[in-house]
Amino acid sequence: MCGIVGYIGYEQAAPLLLQGLEKLEYRGYDSAGVCLNDGEKLVVEKSKGKLKVLKELTENGKTLKGTVGIGHTRWATHGEPSDVNAHPHLSDSDRFAVVHNGIIENYIQLKEHLKSKGIEFRSKTDTEVIAQLIEYYYKGSIIDTVIKVMSKLEGSYALGVISRDNPDEIIAVRKESPLIIGLGENENYIASDVTAILAKTRKIYRLENNEIAVLHRDSVKIIDTDKEEVRKEPETIKWDISAAEKGGYEHFMFKEIMEQPKSVHDTVAPRIKDGRVVLDEIKLSDEQLKNFDKINILACGSAYHVGVVAKYVFEKIIRKPVEVDLASEFRYRNPIIDEKTLTVVISQSGETADTKEAMKEARRRGSHVISIVNVVGSAIAVESDDVIYTWAGPEIAVATTKAYSTQLAVIYLMAIYLGDKLGTINENEYKTYVSELQELPKKITSILENKENIQYLASKSFNCRDVFFIGRNIDYALSLEGSLKLKEISYIHSEAYAAGELKHGTISLIESGTLVIALATHEELLGKIISNIEEVQARGANVIGVACENHPEMASVAQSTIFIPNTCDMFLPSLAVIPLQLFAYYVASLKGCDIDKPRNLAKSVTVE
Ligand code: G6P
Repeated sequence: MCGIVGYIGYEQAAPLLLQGLEKLEYRGYDSAGVCLNDGEKLVVEKSKGKLKVLKELTENGKTLKGTVGIGHTRWATHGEPSDVNAHPHLSDSDRFAVVHNGIIENYIQLKEHLKSKGIEFRSKTDTEVIAQLIEYYYKGSIIDTVIKVMSKLEGSYALGVISRDNPDEIIAVRKESPLIIGLGENENYIASDVTAILAKTRKIYRLENNEIAVLHRDSVKIIDTDKEEVRKEPETIKWDISAAEKGGYEHFMFKEIMEQPKSVHDTVAPRIKDGRVVLDEIKLSDEQLKNFDKINILACGSAYHVGVVAKYVFEKIIRKPVEVDLASEFRYRNPIIDEKTLTVVISQSGETADTKEAMKEARRRGSHVISIVNVVGSAIAVESDDVIYTWAGPEIAVATTKAYSTQLAVIYLMAIYLGDKLGTINENEYKTYVSELQELPKKITSILENKENIQYLASKSFNCRDVFFIGRNIDYALSLEGSLKLKEISYIHSEAYAAGELKHGTISLIESGTLVIALATHEELLGKIISNIEEVQARGANVIGVACENHPEMASVAQSTIFIPNTCDMFLPSLAVIPLQLFAYYVASLKGCDIDKPRNLAKSVTVE
């Protein structure tokens, strides 16, 4: 969603801010802006639309002078996408400028109060309230003022603040919304995401909640709200900038699809030692593990779809009841969970607002939370009891691929680990699971090597209006992800349906030429899904089947069939998802869609 970058140094700030914002584009946004202190005043340029517009407006930043500035990409929440609602926002007499990620929940009361004091507002945003409050309370010390303003704000915020009268300082604040400080030589940065500054520095501080950073050209001081200095060790970012660049591929999504063998390997390999799954991250004794009477999974979007797969996997392998909840629903349904429930929270970004709040709710009710997160040091990772990182590397495309695959891999690791601890799998099963898990990267590679076959099927289908994904059991769980991938990047209407449920309604939508993608990997129910395929074909559907190589007879069931290698039944989604991702990608590409940044979507959804 929104992105923040700020610079203070000796170079011209505007081009650097624009470069930083470019790296944040993947998060999703609808307007962008920068503000610089030119030595006399604060100069703002902002515009609705893509960064390209702002770059043209400022000749790539050349028209803006100043060596200190802040920039922002906005994803509208309060007030429509427009020039005036774009950040940075200025205070009433243009004395302070603010960029903000997050949401100020009590902004209406604050705004009313300020308006009653004669302060005029220009925008419809919650953020402008912060700029106005700073000016309203300012009595000479910006730090005192920011601390005072923090005490008035309810909600979440990462802030970058600059002032007209002090061209030598940026103030940065974090509460619930991520913010890092980049440390350079005679220059320093703020950013909501490491990718924005990685081309400039690898040394960073991560701000914690309620910390305030005071940046000068040659120093950074971090304090708390009592003005006590907070000492931190700088962290060095290990991954290379190329990991966040396209590396010759046309789209990040394609690059990330192709990276999956490596990502899955990186997630699995370090956790298998001498043939045993080692999950040191789970800090629960065997006794504690045995005491859980159910598992509760919380997530949003594709991570939720991983949760649905996990339900089948855990129930089969661990034999404990599993509930999967959309985080946004869980929070408000007075859930029945307590200390006997183990909660698993899944999130690529570790910042999704609903998932974070649902996690807090589970913890409040006494449940132990294990999170599965990709972004190191993110809020969910830090606030959960235990965290298992998916080592997928930075994922830039809005539509997730490699994060989904690594989340699945962690679910499999957990299932084997817990199955062993709880005695629900025998030694033979254990060994088979472990060796099949280790084989997954190789098998994913073999599917990727045959991608042209899927490209061909996409070329025959990219004009279709509706697509139905059907499957049973674990194939149904995967159909949810296949359908989401297609609709989010190609804008083709698609639905996922449990194949056995089709005849209770959805089958009425099947007509001549409707595309049905039938997932038929789950051997136990092969006969049943074949019947469902015949049912839709009888009504005119064109069916693409996805089946395992050890069932070549499937080629004569559907009009076209994509074959995948075989593995343990519960691990099949890791393989079957690959053709579904590729299919969505090729369809969207043939339709000329903005694949990495689909309309209306954001990479990390930091609002409810
Ligand atoms: C957004 C993204 C999805 C993602 C979902 C949950 O909608 O576009 O790809 O699955 O958020 O995000 P998280 O970071 O919590 O996994």
